[in-house]
Formats: sequence, C-alpha cells, structure tokens
Amino acid sequence: MNAADDKTIVKEYFNSTGFDRWRRIYGDGEVNKVQLDIRNGHQQTVDKVLGWLKADNNLASLSICDAGCGVGSLSIPLAEAGAKVYASDISEKMVEEAKERSMSILGTENPTFAVQDLETLSGSYHTVVCLDVLIHYPQQKADEMISHLCSLAQSRVILSFAPKTFALSLLKKIGSFFPGASKATRAYLHREADVVKILASNGFTVQRQSMTRTRFYFSRLLEATRQ
Ligand SMILES: C[S@@+](CC[C@H](N)C(=O)[O-])C[C@H]1O[C@@H](n2cnc3c(N)ncnc32)[C@H](O)[C@@H]1O
Repeated sequence: MNAADDKTIVKEYFNSTGFDRWRRIYGDGEVNKVQLDIRNGHQQTVDKVLGWLKADNNLASLSICDAGCGVGSLSIPLAEAGAKVYASDISEKMVEEAKERSMSILGTENPTFAVQDLETLSGSYHTVVCLDVLIHYPQQKADEMISHLCSLAQSRVILSFAPKTFALSLLKKIGSFFPGASKATRAYLHREADVVKILASNGFTVQRQSMTRTRFYFSRLLEATRQ
C-alpha cells in the first residue's frame, strides 16, 4: 500500500466507523473496557502536553497549531487556557464534532477549526502539536509530515507516535495492538531514532519526552525546540 492510499483510507475511516468509535473513546459516555483503557491513556497524553505548556507559563495568546485535532480533546482546553488555537483535521466528521464540543464548552470562535490535510497547512505558529496522528502513516510519510510541521513552527513542535520497540512489534504481530474495529486502519510503529533524526534535520532538538503506556494505548511524546 502506498502512502496516498493510507491517507485515503484514514480519511474515510475517520469519516465513518472510525468517527463513531473515536468520538465515543474521546468522550465521557459509556464504553467497553478496551475503549476505556485507550480513553484513559489518551487523556494522560493530553494532560502531559497541557502540563508542559502551562509549566512554561504564558499560554495567553500563544499561537498553537493542533494538526489532526480530532474532536478537539487538546484544542479546547488549550483555548480555555488562553492560547490562540488553529485546529484542523482531515476528517469532516471529526471537525464537525470538535466544533460542536467547542461551542457547547467555550462558546467562542477560538479555537478555529478547519478541515485540512496537515500536509497542506500553511502559516506560522509559535507551537505546532500533532498527537496520535503519525501512527496512521509509514515512516517515509511520517518523515514528510514531521518536516512540514517543523516548517510551520517558529519555536516548538510537540508530537506523539507509537514507538517501535521489540515489545510493541510483538504485540502488533500477535494482533492485540489496537484491537477491535480500529483494525480498519493500519497502525504503524516508528523508531524514536528516526523521529529524532528528522526533527534534527529540520533544526529541532528534543527537550522533553514522556511515554504513556496502558494496556492498549502506547504513545511516546516528544517536545522539540528550534535551535
Ligand atoms: C487517533 S486521532 C487523534 C486526534 C487528536 N490529535 C487527539 O489526540 O485527540 C487521529 C486523527 O488524525 C486525523 N488525521 C489523520 N491523517 C491526517 C492528516 N493527513 N491530516 C490531518 N489530520 C489527519 C484523523 O482524522 C483523526 O482525527
């Protein structure tokens, strides 16, 4: 499968069965045990990013691009904390849901939401965040995406990916990684060294890192700043 196919499949998935599944996981209603585990893991990742950004204090009016924003799990609390958030996602359905959630929680035009492939984003933002998106793409496409995100960032890039460790490769092989309906999309694991290398080739150095690991959710989080 080539990367263009990956993108089409991912987009269709997050506009159909994937939308139903992830809207529930990223919500607060009743879900099954696996989905609850993934919800809790993902929330830990979101909380870590919020914690990092808030620890650096002045979130007020900081411009943040949330690429592949999903239903706004990060964008909405970031806007609530005062950041100026530009959120976008390739899936119309995810963006529609994000807008509704944002309107009912914040009732403001911040964040702004757009349906857009992250590779077509333009502009310049203090910080660019991309959480749990790269997992849908093979390394070469992920490299291109990371490079593009770096080109949008004045100062900092924060991204997460599923690390290619022996344990995870094994789990993926035996099929227990991302179980159930989400198997409709492939889950790609990425070597941390490859991600660090592509960040470095774009002038970014890793400053903070974290690993969130629950039973069914694995996400390596890196913050890199422009040197
Ligand atoms: C697992 S969800 C994560 C959503 C959000 N970042 C979060 O952490 O809550 C992955 C999201 O990436 C989006 N996505 C996948 N490929 C994309 C692309 N090329 N450009 C923009 N969004 C993309 C999907 O539509 C989906 O909403």
